[in-house]
Amino acid sequence: MIRGLRQIEPYRAGAQPRQLDIIKLNTNENAYGASSKVKEALAGFSADQLRRYSSLDQDSLRQALSRQLGVDASQLIIGNGSDDILSIAFLTFFNNPEPILFPDLTYGFYKVWADLYQIPYQEVPLAADFTIKTEDYQRPNGGIILTNPNAPTGIYKPLAEIEDILKSNRDVAVIVDEAYINFGGQTALSLLEKYDHLVLVRTFSKDASLAGLRVGYAVASPRLIASMNAVKHSINPYSVDLLAERLATAAVEDWEHYERNCRRIAETRDWFRQALIELGFMVLPSATNFVLAKPQGISSRSLFEKLEARGIFVRYFPNVKRIEDFLRISIGSREEMEECLNAIKEFVK
Ligand SMILES: Cc1ncc(COP(=O)(O)O)c(C=O)c1O
Repeated sequence: MIRGLRQIEPYRAGAQPRQLDIIKLNTNENAYGASSKVKEALAGFSADQLRRYSSLDQDSLRQALSRQLGVDASQLIIGNGSDDILSIAFLTFFNNPEPILFPDLTYGFYKVWADLYQIPYQEVPLAADFTIKTEDYQRPNGGIILTNPNAPTGIYKPLAEIEDILKSNRDVAVIVDEAYINFGGQTALSLLEKYDHLVLVRTFSKDASLAGLRVGYAVASPRLIASMNAVKHSINPYSVDLLAERLATAAVEDWEHYERNCRRIAETRDWFRQALIELGFMVLPSATNFVLAKPQGISSRSLFEKLEARGIFVRYFPNVKRIEDFLRISIGSREEMEECLNAIKEFVK
């Protein structure tokens, strides 16, 4: 064994089976494809452009987002997926001696970055009903990160409660990861004017059907974004490639297409959740593109295995105590969800 070797428990992403003839409901991707503008931008992209480095500040994408979100371009930073942005945010904002706070059940990567960057942290247990309790975030801390709506629960925390957390934590950064916000709930964008310690993190992987392209961004005050840029430019200044910027810009310019798909997914989700409840499953209320469901009449492991054998991939968390009896099922197209429901009905009979 050599000295100085780093040992770390990495983030374990959901399986990424490459077969095309499966129903993939395990990593919250979008069932619907790219808009025609994105397809045109891809077809019109000349590989010769790649001899040059990509841009340092993704000005065209920031301008498009600035118009879409009604914020100044100086309030935006783009990254290689929101994982890149979140990692930069941890390095930028969480440098205090007090522990940062996040729920015990949330995006599993937060704990991994805290470990990797040696940031002290406390995992705050969710309430018995799996909600985030505001008062748990009103005590001394070195910063806060919440996913809203939360994952893997799917539960949305009302904006007024997010504001209460902001009010009681004015001297640290409060990061709200809005990966799933366009499937339900109200964005915290309107709070940015009042609270310059708020950082919103967004991704093109879920609502914009571009998980494979790797684009994410943060919105915050120009001062905080400048600090994030300093960190970004201390790691990998060209982390966003040319093609990714071009296609993500086209997606923003054709946003009605994605809004329509988000609405379809939300409708399918509400129908699917109700159908599972009628089978006796316990299903948490979801404002996202997935549901967290506790099967009835069959164990989560057995249902997971039977679905997988049928070519339907869902997410099972055997090592997470509070939800080991649950399955997280992403919401695909209506047809995919009908097939999934029919298989479930067969297995629980
Ligand atoms: C809450 C949350 N944040 C961030 C991410 C990362 O997304 P990206 O594909 O933009 O890296 C995910 C992915 O599943 C997520 O669930």
